[in-house]
Amino acid sequence: MNAFHKLVSANREGSYSVSLAPGLSVGKVAELVSVIDGRKSLLVTTPTVARLYARQIAGSLIESGVDLSTVVLECNEKSKSFAEVERLCQKCFEVGLDRRSLLIGLGGGVCTDLVTMAASLTRRGLSYLRIPTTLIGLIDAGIGVKGAINLPNKKSAIGVFFPPEHVLLDPSFMQTLPRELISDGLAEAIKVGVAMDPFLFEVLEQFSNELLKSPSTADINKLTKLVWRSSLRLLEELEKNLYEDRTYQRILDFGHTFSPLVESMSGFRVSHGVAVAVYIALSSAVAYELGLLSVEDRNRILRSLRTAGLPISSPILTDEVCDKALREMEAHRGGHLNLVVPTGIGKSVFIDEKQALPMSAFRTALRFLDSEFSGLTVLRPSASTITHAVAPD
Ligand SMILES: NC(=O)c1ccc[n+]([C@@H]2O[C@H](COP(=O)([O-])OP(=O)(O)OC[C@H]3O[C@@H](n4cnc5c(N)ncnc54)[C@H](O)[C@@H]3O)[C@@H](O)[C@H]2O)c1
Repeated sequence: MNAFHKLVSANREGSYSVSLAPGLSVGKVAELVSVIDGRKSLLVTTPTVARLYARQIAGSLIESGVDLSTVVLECNEKSKSFAEVERLCQKCFEVGLDRRSLLIGLGGGVCTDLVTMAASLTRRGLSYLRIPTTLIGLIDAGIGVKGAINLPNKKSAIGVFFPPEHVLLDPSFMQTLPRELISDGLAEAIKVGVAMDPFLFEVLEQFSNELLKSPSTADINKLTKLVWRSSLRLLEELEKNLYEDRTYQRILDFGHTFSPLVESMSGFRVSHGVAVAVYIALSSAVAYELGLLSVEDRNRILRSLRTAGLPISSPILTDEVCDKALREMEAHRGGHLNLVVPTGIGKSVFIDEKQALPMSAFRTALRFLDSEFSGLTVLRPSASTITHAVAPD
């Protein structure tokens, strides 16, 4: 060993809190004030969320003595860019944030992704809070440790692992969410239910319809149960491999093998939630063909997608596309497929090798989904304007 050599420990210990904060959406900010703990703060939000919630929340914070500035950003896939992150970093300096100050992201996944990126860069790392306001945010995008921006030809291509200090969840933000965004979120919750949580799946079976029909009057206790259960299961799973460096076997990849390809091949006319739904349906139909899933469970899964206003097939997803997606995944996941397929409600296995998945099973499954459920095939536009390949979130 070289005598002039020192091994420097570069590990950082850390943890973050995710908790329910009922009433935050209507300006009950006591918990937020206590989390802010006297620190100068910059609240980052979107035009819609500013109009619906942020003005009231900011007003209540200022009344409670918080030293707060607010910035409203256009938050869409186009603005998930270096330029927008730079603008936000500059804003942090303009309003005088120092090393002890806080950024607060109040919005959907795009907003919290931008805040995560800016927090990781400004002064080499500021503390930040996330307050997700979409269903995808509450159960997925807003609760993990990742943030990303898009390159002009690749979604979520540049990103960081940078944990927030706190995440505050108020399911009541759902009351104003458009139906399509609720369906998108339900697709992610169904993913978690099918892959690992039969209880969550039952909650979804019983409640999706009510939530979709009228988010403003849906039972808040059931909605809270759905949000908390789904986010808890996701966090328990994330925690095992938070920085995605321990294993390629990630149950949460369920739904994400074919979905990036469906999204990009549609020119992003198909939303992420819809693409995940199509994949859940396909993997269930393939699992049935392989003798891994009963006909009853396959049909229950397909029904749950239908109840959540989601399609189960897409004209884009042909057997050639499936073959291409499997080959790409094999390369992406260290030479093994690690494809998650359901074996029951709340149970799944990994299929490692492409040989274990005959294309005939895909062909039969695709034909079944197209013929039996052709009325459910829809293409729905996503907000995204990006038109090339996509990396998994
Ligand atoms: N970092 C991660 O781990 C992760 C995980 C999943 C997804 N994502 C990212 O999240 C993004 C998608 O996020 P999203 O689905 O939350 O959508 P979004 O952030 O694009 O928001 C969609 C729209 O909903 C509006 N909105 C937000 N809350 C609202 C409310 N309560 N009522 C009415 N309108 C509201 C917003 O203003 C916006 O116009 C994608 O860019 C995706 O890449 C990130």
